[in-house]
Amino acid sequence: MTFKKTADTFEAGAHTLSREYYTDIDILEKEYQQIFLKNWICVGRSTDISENGHFVTLNIANENVIILKDDLGKLQAFYNICRHRGTRICEETEGKFSKSIQCNYHGWTYDLQGHLIGAPHMDVVKNFKKDNFPLHPVAIDEWNGFIFLNLSEQPKPIDQTLDPLTKRFSHLQINHLLVKEQITYDVNCNWKLVFQNYCECYHCPLLHPELSKIYHYMGGQNDLYSGPFLGGYNQLNEDFESVSHSGKFSCPPLDGIKDDDLNRVYFYSVFPNMLISLHPEYVMYHTVWPVGIDKCRIFCSWLFTEDVINSKKHNTKDAIDFWDLTNKQDWHISELSQLGVKSRKYFPSPYSGQESLLAAFDEYYLGELNASA
Ligand code: FES
Ligand SMILES: [Fe+2]
Repeated sequence: MTFKKTADTFEAGAHTLSREYYTDIDILEKEYQQIFLKNWICVGRSTDISENGHFVTLNIANENVIILKDDLGKLQAFYNICRHRGTRICEETEGKFSKSIQCNYHGWTYDLQGHLIGAPHMDVVKNFKKDNFPLHPVAIDEWNGFIFLNLSEQPKPIDQTLDPLTKRFSHLQINHLLVKEQITYDVNCNWKLVFQNYCECYHCPLLHPELSKIYHYMGGQNDLYSGPFLGGYNQLNEDFESVSHSGKFSCPPLDGIKDDDLNRVYFYSVFPNMLISLHPEYVMYHTVWPVGIDKCRIFCSWLFTEDVINSKKHNTKDAIDFWDLTNKQDWHISELSQLGVKSRKYFPSPYSGQESLLAAFDEYYLGELNASA
């Protein structure tokens, strides 16, 4: 595949991925190993884990991870397996530990930093030292109020990884924003179809008549067009202030939004599981989770300032409901894509000039999938 790394033009030659990338279980397993267990993965907002001892568990690829706030208020993450005989420790998807984490099989007990603090009858085992059996840690860090995990053995620091994006958000206080609403969607398509759909607006005129009134599908500019982060902005049409049913601001613009940014929405995909959309007055983000070769789960959240959330004055539903409608339009067409792509008559076809980011996504994805280290 060859294409010029420019914003909106690329040479002929970039084609859609072949069928097996959407249908072959072995490729999904390879994606788990090569992509989802190696990269920083966005798992939510730090405010999702509010108090000390609060925990959530979630699956990443074939692994299950406990994320918690320890007794010092620090975020920690561990593989959800006991160091005795490997039993999964927490069955719940969320809850609160008092002061420790106990495996219900034989009672091995860990503190909230993962140290083994109790192991019944192991004191008679020669050379057994509790210090040698902590819970296996998972790298955890925060970026702009988002929690990221990395299950590789030696992850690069997150700041270094997300640096190109950080510059685009540094003038805003996104870390202070709170989740006003989260909607979960179960979608019958491969996770990559969701990314590919997000990376173009070629489909907007037909699929999103409401959105197309707000901005023109050609009225934008990409500013990250290769590598793990892809995207740019769409320019809002005159008479429209934001993306909402009314076309008006659902609340005042965020501090730091000024000049051109008052009339723009920025869309970035963050490989491999996050989509972040910056509007003048709110942030929407999605996390995308493969749950099978032809199924994914998507969490979509809308972030507003605390003042807006606490005030009764603002119509945040105007924006949330608009994107819920638009999301569903996107998921439906992605499900139809999945159905078509699995046909024996599907073959890779050329991308249009409006789909340069998809070619860039595919190139980066294939590089990661086939990376040797
Ligand atoms: S497997 Fe956990 S205490 Fe035995
Ligand atoms: Fe769309």
